[in-house]
Amino acid sequence: MRLAIIGAGAIGRIHAHNVTAHPEARLAVVCDSIPDAAESLATEFGSIAVQSVEEALGRNLDGAIIASSTASHGEVAAACIVAGVPFLCEKPLASDRSAALQIVASARQAGLVAAIAFNRRFDAGYAGIKAAVSAGEIGRVEAVLVTSRTASPPSVEFTRTSGGLFGEKGAHFYDLARWITGEHPVEVFAMGSVLVNSSFADIGEIDTAMVTMRMPSGALCQFDFSWRSAYGQDERVEVNGSLGMLQTFQEPVGRFLRSKSGGQSQDGLMPTWHERFAPTYADELHAFVGAIRSGDSSGLPSLEDGLAAQQIADAARESVQFARPVRLNGPLD
Ligand SMILES: NC(=O)c1ccc[n+]([C@@H]2O[C@H](COP(=O)([O-])OP(=O)(O)OC[C@H]3O[C@@H](n4cnc5c(N)ncnc54)[C@H](O)[C@@H]3O)[C@@H](O)[C@H]2O)c1
Repeated sequence: MRLAIIGAGAIGRIHAHNVTAHPEARLAVVCDSIPDAAESLATEFGSIAVQSVEEALGRNLDGAIIASSTASHGEVAAACIVAGVPFLCEKPLASDRSAALQIVASARQAGLVAAIAFNRRFDAGYAGIKAAVSAGEIGRVEAVLVTSRTASPPSVEFTRTSGGLFGEKGAHFYDLARWITGEHPVEVFAMGSVLVNSSFADIGEIDTAMVTMRMPSGALCQFDFSWRSAYGQDERVEVNGSLGMLQTFQEPVGRFLRSKSGGQSQDGLMPTWHERFAPTYADELHAFVGAIRSGDSSGLPSLEDGLAAQQIADAARESVQFARPVRLNGPLD
């Protein structure tokens, strides 16, 4: 299967590695508007480098992974749709709501295999919680608590167009909460602070936030987001229900406890999301390859899921701006 990577940055490199390692896939082309970026990734993985998305899409592709900067997702997805090339689009879906709506509407009309890269759904712990909730193991869900603290913040320049803490980071976790509960929130309330890098304030961004949302059933979701974690990638999900509670663990590098005369110790957490979630990107790619082969993308999060997460991110931003809860009427309101 001939796949393209569009966007040869940090996540493009992870996808390139996984495409090259996949038994059914081949990295047909790497595209980046910065020639050196395309060239360097293509050389590393034995592929061809191009600068233009149209040129990449003209290379008899079976699929494309949109790993370019968030602000470009709208135009790159539109080019994939025109070329009839199935695509997996990195999150967040777009940098603004109208671009996101346009992607969803055009892909749906074209009937193309298209999905959003919410890789957290492929994490064994999160998927286990989803399966247990769906099986009714903990009864009615009453609370979802999510912690996501990243070891170091992205650059201010990157954050200017990435979607920021609410969009770029948050999208993964609003999606997890929607996926686990099977509900879309009716109300969102958020508070944000600048505690990690004061320059975020210069671009109207925050680096620390708490987001709360209420689901139609009354279940409440709480998200603790930070671009700082002095002790590695810290991500945890807890779901409390009428019959019990489900929790994922922090993921230490080592999996044993040292007990000595001075006390007990354990290795720390995995340093970044790269190590912590490496298997999820490979599993996500495998699902994308399967979707292209079968024409059925139901095993992947949909573009509509991406739009729904984007709506929640926008509501969180609005809530901080006006210091009040924001009501939602549905993902497409
Ligand atoms: N799923 C995840 O866990 C995850 C992790 C990191 C990043 N992301 C997402 O992936 C996207 C890229 O993030 P990144 O960290 O790799 O960014 P990056 O800045 O490292 O790389 C982005 C690359 O895209 C290129 N680019 C921009 N516009 C382009 C266009 N029109 N055509 C071709 N190339 C173009 C840039 O030149 C750059 O090399 C963002 O949307 C980000 O939110 C997702």
